[in-house]
Amino acid sequence: MQELFVEGGRRLCGELTIQGSKNGVLPVLAATIVCAGECRIENCPRLSDVDASVAILRHLGCHTQWEGNALLVDTRQMDRAEVPDALMREMRSSVIFLGAILARQGEAALSYPGGCELGPRPIDMHLAALRALGAEIDERGGTLRCRADVLTAAEIVLPLPSVGATENAILAACGAEGTSVIYNAAREPELAELQAFLNAMGAEVRGAGSSVITVAGKRQLHGGTHRVGADRIVEATYLCAAAACGGDIRFKGVDYRQLSTVTAALEEAGCAVTSEGEQISLRSAGVLRAIRPVRTAPYPGFPTDAQPALMAALLCSTGSTVFVENIFENRYRHADELARMGAEIRVAGRVAVVSGVKALHGAAVKSTDLRGGAALVLAGLQAEGETCVSQLEHIDRGYEDVARDLSALGAQIERREKDR
Ligand code: UD1
Repeated sequence: MQELFVEGGRRLCGELTIQGSKNGVLPVLAATIVCAGECRIENCPRLSDVDASVAILRHLGCHTQWEGNALLVDTRQMDRAEVPDALMREMRSSVIFLGAILARQGEAALSYPGGCELGPRPIDMHLAALRALGAEIDERGGTLRCRADVLTAAEIVLPLPSVGATENAILAACGAEGTSVIYNAAREPELAELQAFLNAMGAEVRGAGSSVITVAGKRQLHGGTHRVGADRIVEATYLCAAAACGGDIRFKGVDYRQLSTVTAALEEAGCAVTSEGEQISLRSAGVLRAIRPVRTAPYPGFPTDAQPALMAALLCSTGSTVFVENIFENRYRHADELARMGAEIRVAGRVAVVSGVKALHGAAVKSTDLRGGAALVLAGLQAEGETCVSQLEHIDRGYEDVARDLSALGAQIERREKDR
C-alpha cells in the first residue's frame, strides 16, 4: 500500500500545467457512445475514475486505446446495454452512462449507484428527466432497467440544478425525436464541455453555461475530437496550497473565470492573484487572515469541491472562518483527521468553524474522500515535521499525481510504500 510522505515548511514557487478536468471528461466519455464512430479525447487525465469509465466502455463493446494523453474510443461495435454491478461500484458517477446507453440502444440496465462517502447521492432527478423523455424505468431489486422504444423530446424542469441530472438529460435528449428544453440546468463549466463535444459529433445542443439548455435530438451523429480543459478543482487545490505555504506560482492554459469565487476568497485572506488571458498567478506571504463565511453553492457560487482545500489553507490563519456546506450532507469528514494535526475545527451539521492555530504538527492521517484527502496533503505541507497520508485510492480518483505536481512547485512530498 503506498502512502504520501510530506515534510512541511517549504514555500511553493514555479509554473505548472494543470491536468485535464475529471468532471469534464467523465460525461464526455459517456457521450462517446451516443454516436457510432471514432472519437479522440485529448488531454485526458490519467485517473482511476477514467479507468473505471474505460472499463465500462469496453464492457459495452467499445474499443479504447491510449495514444500519449489522448484516449481513442471507437464505439462502432457497441453491442451491450447493461453495466454490471462491479463496474458501477468503481465510480459513483457512472450513472451518467444511463442516458447515453438509452439514447444509443433504446434500453439500459445498471445497478443503483447507492450512497458514497459524501452522504446519500439520490438520482431521482436523473430518473425523472429520463421518464419525461418517455423512458419506462423499473427500479426493483437494486437494478435500474430503462426502456424506451421511442424517446420523445420534452420540457424538463429540474428541481435543483444537478450537474449529473443535467448531463444525463442532455445525453438522453440526443436520442429523442424533437427539441428538448432543460430548465434550471446546472451552469457548471463541465456542461459547456459536454455541449462542445456533442456538437463536434454533429449534435445540436445550445445554452450550456446558462440555466436553459436546448437539445435538438436524433441528429445524424459521427465521431468527434475533443480537448479536455484544465481541471478547475485541481487548480483551486494548488492555489490554496501556495496560499497557505507562501510562495509565487503560475498556471498556464487555464480559464481563471471558472475560479473567481475561490480566488476572491484567497485575495480576501491576503494573497495577490493576477489573471490574464489563459494564465493565473498567485503570490502569498504565507500568513493568511480569516475571511467572511464561505457558503458552497452551485456554479457560479463557491464550489463544494474546493471547500476542503480552502479550509486546509485557513488552518493557521489569524481569526476564525465559518464554512456552510450547502451541497452535500457529509462533507467535513476531513475535519477529524485535520484535528490530529492540531487543527481547530468545530463542526455542527452543515456548518464548520475553523479557528486558526499557531502551527500544525505532522501526523499519520487517512484520506476520507477525494477532496478531503487533498486537504490532508495541504495541511501536511504547512505542518512541522512529517505527515503520512494513507488511503490514497480516494485521491487517485481525481489527481493524476499530487506528489509530482507539488514537488514541481518545490514541496517535499513523496509517494512510496510505507515500510521502505
Ligand atoms: C457533480 C460533481 C461533483 C460535485 C457536484 C456538485 C461530477 C462527476 N461530479 O456531482 O464533483 O461535487 O457535481 O458540484 O461531475 N441530487 C438529488 N437528486 C438527484 C441528483 C442530485 O437530490 O437526482 C442532489 C445531491 O444529493 C446533491 C445536489 O443535488 O445534494 C447536487 O448534486 P449534483 O449536482 O447532482 O452532483 P453530481 O452530479 O453527483
